[in-house]
Amino acid sequence: MPLRFSFLAAALLMLLTVSARERKNFDADWRFILADSAAMAQPSYDDSHWRMLSVPHDWAREGDFSAANPSGAGGGALPGGVGWYRKHFYVGNEQLVMSNDARAQFFIEFDGVYMNSTVYVNGTEVGHRPYGYSSFEYDITPLLRKGDNVVAVRVDNSDQPNSRWYSGCGIYRHVWLTRTHPVHVKHWGVHAESSLQLPNGYVRVEVEIENPTSQKAKVEHHLIDQKGRVVARSQGGQSKMAVRHPSTWSCDNPYVYTLRTLVKVGGEVVDQVDTPTGFRSFSFDPQRGFSLNGKNFKINGVCEHHDFGCLGAALSEDALHRKLTKLKQMGVNAIRSSHNPPAPELLAMCDTMGLIVMDESFDMWRRRKTQNDYARFFDEWHERDLTDLVLRDRNHPCILMWSIGNEVLEQWSSAEADTLTLEQANLILNAGHDATTLAKEGETSVQSLLTKHLADIVHRHDATRPITAGCNEPSPDNHLFRSEAIDIIGFNYHHQWVKDVPKNFPGKPFLFSESVSALQTRGYYMMPSDTVYKAPVEWWLPYADPSFMCSAYDNMHASWSSTHEELWDVVKHTPFCGGQFIWTGFDYIGEPTPYGFPARSSYFGLIDLAGFPKDTYYMYQSEWTTEPMLHLFPHWNWLPGQTIDLWCYYNQADEVELYINGRSQGVRRKKSHDANGWKPALTTEYHAGWRVAYEPGELKAVSRKNGQVVCQQTIRTASAPAAIRLSIDYAGNYLTFVNAEVVDVNGTLCPWADDQLFFSTEGSGTAIVATDNGCQTSMERFTAPQRKAFHGKCIAVVQGHGTLTAKGYGLDAASIVF
Ligand code: GAL
Repeated sequence: MPLRFSFLAAALLMLLTVSARERKNFDADWRFILADSAAMAQPSYDDSHWRMLSVPHDWAREGDFSAANPSGAGGGALPGGVGWYRKHFYVGNEQLVMSNDARAQFFIEFDGVYMNSTVYVNGTEVGHRPYGYSSFEYDITPLLRKGDNVVAVRVDNSDQPNSRWYSGCGIYRHVWLTRTHPVHVKHWGVHAESSLQLPNGYVRVEVEIENPTSQKAKVEHHLIDQKGRVVARSQGGQSKMAVRHPSTWSCDNPYVYTLRTLVKVGGEVVDQVDTPTGFRSFSFDPQRGFSLNGKNFKINGVCEHHDFGCLGAALSEDALHRKLTKLKQMGVNAIRSSHNPPAPELLAMCDTMGLIVMDESFDMWRRRKTQNDYARFFDEWHERDLTDLVLRDRNHPCILMWSIGNEVLEQWSSAEADTLTLEQANLILNAGHDATTLAKEGETSVQSLLTKHLADIVHRHDATRPITAGCNEPSPDNHLFRSEAIDIIGFNYHHQWVKDVPKNFPGKPFLFSESVSALQTRGYYMMPSDTVYKAPVEWWLPYADPSFMCSAYDNMHASWSSTHEELWDVVKHTPFCGGQFIWTGFDYIGEPTPYGFPARSSYFGLIDLAGFPKDTYYMYQSEWTTEPMLHLFPHWNWLPGQTIDLWCYYNQADEVELYINGRSQGVRRKKSHDANGWKPALTTEYHAGWRVAYEPGELKAVSRKNGQVVCQQTIRTASAPAAIRLSIDYAGNYLTFVNAEVVDVNGTLCPWADDQLFFSTEGSGTAIVATDNGCQTSMERFTAPQRKAFHGKCIAVVQGHGTLTAKGYGLDAASIVF
């Protein structure tokens, strides 16, 4: 009994004492206005008529698309401006004082505010932050008072254009209020450096404590496994612990441990901070490419911007998880946070989902790409922003490399982007530059020194990961490469130069930091499919097509890039290539290359803006995953007699046979070469193909291995639109993504349907948050409860739990419970 009592008492004590640090989500009950006045900082300002909302919030996605918006089509053609957020909160006497009579400390933390934020507490400015992707915290202890307090945030995104893609506007990530004892772990003050030297895993821990008191603080660390067991302990500001036979972190089994740091004063726990950590060894090898825990494989990555399509830039864990899940199902094992610090939640999810991360800092250094971009803040802020990125993120096991920049114009000693429009800047990046602008033998240029300076900042705070940069100048005389500070040679595009990498960069590992940039609109097919369309043909030439669409066969790409199949063939057959990060996984708002307005979102994604996979998604699935699959396309609704190209992606089979209305159209195989070594992909095809004459009816593809059927798929000709079909695409904790399809009387998808659908919800607390259809030129507001189907499909994003109904003229309505 006494034993049991002391155990309970200890547990109770733990409960009481661990409450020392409180980190509260501070997202609810903000007031917002899209207007500007210095008086809005004052606590007495009358904000009673302002709109109430919860952050994360993005006011730009609520606006109308317009050519007149200064962000331009490249920035998504959505509004900018200046907005204010205010939040009133009450602080009681009991919150001001800690259990042991010490004065509580208060910190407000913003994960991301785009951009130029200024924060005021009770009328006093506590800080200003230009870079819209950095996370930051302010100590607001001296300004808080017992009773009512007001925090006001001015967000200024009025100087446009300042981004080559859609940025969003506002407090678009989470806000936190942290209350601590005066003796506490500093913000991002735990550094857990893990290493794996089998049979042991080690964690070297360094902690920075803030202690304004004269009392002595003691620090303890517990390493906790996923069953909650403490598997190692250590003490002190600097310590090291070892675990025998640790579970390793890998893409298939991403085992994350928790490092629990306890700060004690006089035996009492006054602070507790949990940090994720994991054991993995990895290498980027000049001959073998990439290995994780000794296993050699390709990094099958995608580049992602931060927006969530119709939800704008406002962070939603549900939207993020949906995104990563769809990518993982395609076989993706890595994400590049292009071209800026990601939301902290992305890293937490990549930790637990087994996705490798390239964590990137900037799209520009001192030389601007758009009129008002971060280049104007770079000199003053780069050290702070880069340091904060590394301090915030370095403990995540998922991060295996840092990128210090994307296609920065410092690769050359002269670059003329300053005079370009946003659309031209987006196009010019891969234009290639005059050889006289490259570094000279023996020269240490300012650009190289700057590269070294940035790499040093990163390595000062994390020596365990290599540094790369997305370089679209493949010459070894690129000033960044010349600096010798780039650990992994990262090419953006330029696959023709890959064969020369071992000669040009002896002893250096290599990967594609960015690749492909193929252009596709879901459901739109340009034939003949074996003609490759370049758009634009050269970067300086205009491209126009009244359709404002791009071809969803893998046969259309920008002038600087390639088809997916061509690039994948290079990666697959080049042993020293560590892998690639495809531009991009999802379509994003802005940068609608090759078009201008009314196109306002990108064509680059393997998945459209609404979340529907384009066909090439399945090419990767066939190559990158092992589950048997087959994907036949396009649809089967054409003009009688029309010549149609049919493609099929498949795996785990020797061949595919196609039937039209029961008649065989022949057996086909992919055409792949077995050569080990670099070889252009002129003859390789990662799909089976048929050229046939259209007749209405039924298409069927059957894959076989050793004569046994592996997979099959049937596509039927649809008759007139008759009904709506709803299905749950993704059900999250707060948001549900519902797919709506226009179908004929037999339930076959109508691939040309563009009916306007009207959505409504029933159930308390339910609402339609957004709608989308993946069409790059849709001018319908993202917040509108109606949406035209695009190639037969659209989505509604709803919140709460209830019933969603979709109606359309002449269509049977449909309802679904969510
Ligand atoms: C790259 C650039 C990306 C995107 C892409 C489009 O040059 O890094 O941000 O602009 O081109 O192809």
